[in-house]
Amino acid sequence: MPESAVAPYQEAVLPIVEKYGRDPHNLLQILIEVQEAFHFVPKEAMDLVSHELFGTRRIRVEGVVTFYSFLSDKPLGDYVVLLSDNITDQMQGNRELGDYLCSRLGVKLGKVRADGRVSVNYTSCTGMADQGPAGLINGIAVTRLTKERLNQIAELIEARKPLEAWPQELFQVDDNIRRSDVVFRESLKPGEAIQACLARGAAETMKEMYRSDLRGRGGAGFKAAIKWEAARDAQADQRYILCNADEGEPGTFKDRVLMSSYADMVFEGMTVAGYAVGASEGILYLRGEYRYMKAKLDAVLERRRAAKLLGAGILGSDFGFDIKIHWGAGAYICGMETAMIESIEGKRGTPRKRWPLPVHEGYMGKPTVVSNVETFAAAAVIGHRGGAWFASHGTMQSTGTRLFCVSGDLERPGIYEYPWGVTVREILRDCGAKDTKFIQISGPSGTTLTEAEFDRRMSFEDLPSVGTFMVFNSTRDSFDMNKNFAKFFQHESCGLCTPCRVGTTLLVQMLEKFEAGLGSPMDFEELKNLSTFMKSMAHCGLGQTAPNHFLDAVNKFSSVFESRMQALEFKPAFDLDLALAEARALAGRDDAEAHL
Ligand SMILES: Cc1cc2nc3c(=O)[nH]c(=O)nc-3n(C[C@H](O)[C@H](O)[C@H](O)COP(=O)(O)O)c2cc1C
Ligand code: SF4
Repeated sequence: MPESAVAPYQEAVLPIVEKYGRDPHNLLQILIEVQEAFHFVPKEAMDLVSHELFGTRRIRVEGVVTFYSFLSDKPLGDYVVLLSDNITDQMQGNRELGDYLCSRLGVKLGKVRADGRVSVNYTSCTGMADQGPAGLINGIAVTRLTKERLNQIAELIEARKPLEAWPQELFQVDDNIRRSDVVFRESLKPGEAIQACLARGAAETMKEMYRSDLRGRGGAGFKAAIKWEAARDAQADQRYILCNADEGEPGTFKDRVLMSSYADMVFEGMTVAGYAVGASEGILYLRGEYRYMKAKLDAVLERRRAAKLLGAGILGSDFGFDIKIHWGAGAYICGMETAMIESIEGKRGTPRKRWPLPVHEGYMGKPTVVSNVETFAAAAVIGHRGGAWFASHGTMQSTGTRLFCVSGDLERPGIYEYPWGVTVREILRDCGAKDTKFIQISGPSGTTLTEAEFDRRMSFEDLPSVGTFMVFNSTRDSFDMNKNFAKFFQHESCGLCTPCRVGTTLLVQMLEKFEAGLGSPMDFEELKNLSTFMKSMAHCGLGQTAPNHFLDAVNKFSSVFESRMQALEFKPAFDLDLALAEARALAGRDDAEAHL
């Protein structure tokens, strides 16, 4: 290629590679910035990145580009519009809005307009279920989309206005905190929890964590103190604290609110963990959908460094700890802890083998604590107030509070913080849900609950939850939810193992067959077998939980499938009476059974 043709790529790519220290572990971060510069990752840029990051083969660069949804090896247009496709967005009419925007802009869904100006497509939930229908424009969140807003957006695109000059209300994201308790009410001043921990010492801080009995808020509910202690006790010259802010479970948005308004508390919790565990580096893995927070979070980190709450010699002690942000790029699987570690190491987000555990060999092969954003926020509160105080809230096996992301058919969507043990019915009452037919807790990988279960308690003893609480009224058909969830998992499967890669696709195809009214009782049985197989044979939590929504539907909404079965007259393959009559006629005898 002539030098002049390579020059524009060099001009854009080289400073990015330099900024990231030519470190192959920063490959994903580099590619995200290349994508921002060109709105796709041109092959010339991939060549350059591979060349400049010594030891990074071209195939690896391409492998990363093709893994993450927000990176593209093909041009996507100057304006890339992605509409959130969560079930709650669909309930709020996102499909109609998508069609409207496409016709308004004269672009086909999933294609780039002939003049290269714009493309429109759907993406998995963008974490705005409390203010949908939502979307992303060149990676920046837009909320509460209506036809009027889309007209405005179309005009801005036609006028080639840069995003910075767009009316700011288009990008407004509200916190919508509707109910506060222990975490949200905590008026922790930056540094207060660290100060308290430094005063009591690292060993005592660990004991406070044990006293609190804090369980992880990211899914499995593993006890935080046990995890911290295992990482502390592992022999190593370096340990890491990773904060999981991937928040990819559709309908979940609490970590967004914590990062946007309580970032100090989360960073403080990570620092407390670093102190107790003996780690000097923390990494916040933040989903690409929350890119709009970048400047704000960078500023909080800078302020904390200036206040000696990060860096060497924190608050005058000999404890040093710093935090950097690592961005995701649209891959739900990267919320799974070992996939996340791979992603932070600049690779495709493919889950690792179950053993060794990250607390023994995690990021860069070193002991690593991976915890959810809310877990770290709670750790800051515990660091400040002590474990016993924290444990005095909630229930015996579920101490403290839980943040619920409430969305769907109700009056007041948003974040509700309750002590663990709250009933489903109380949440429904507080958020103004009426005529509720069913709810889905913990997102697509979670559980469907019907009226008979509304007095159950949100707690590890009864109903554990990652905090997602989607409400569906009597006008909703649970089958639409099943279809949406099945497509989500099909799209998000990383493809490593066959039960999940093939299983998620079969699930979608079978549901489409039922949708077309062509399903049969045999298909229904096949679906159940497939689901059971996936649950036991898939390599990681994604494939193991992908059929949950269908299995719940089997138990709670089987009529939904029966009504979509083919109206066939079923004849048994072997009709004994008919065969006997034929045999008698042939043999002319009454003991025809002997001939059969
Ligand atoms: C497919 C999949 C996606 C996940 N996504 C998230 C996520 O977005 N945030 C999170 O904290 N944990 C997520 N997890 C759970 C993590 O693997 C891990 O258990 C968690 O971050 C540990 O934090 P905790 O101890 O605070 O719960 C996910 C797990 C799976 C299998
Ligand atoms: S279960 Fe799915 S997401 Fe997990 S490793 Fe297998 S293919 Fe990948």
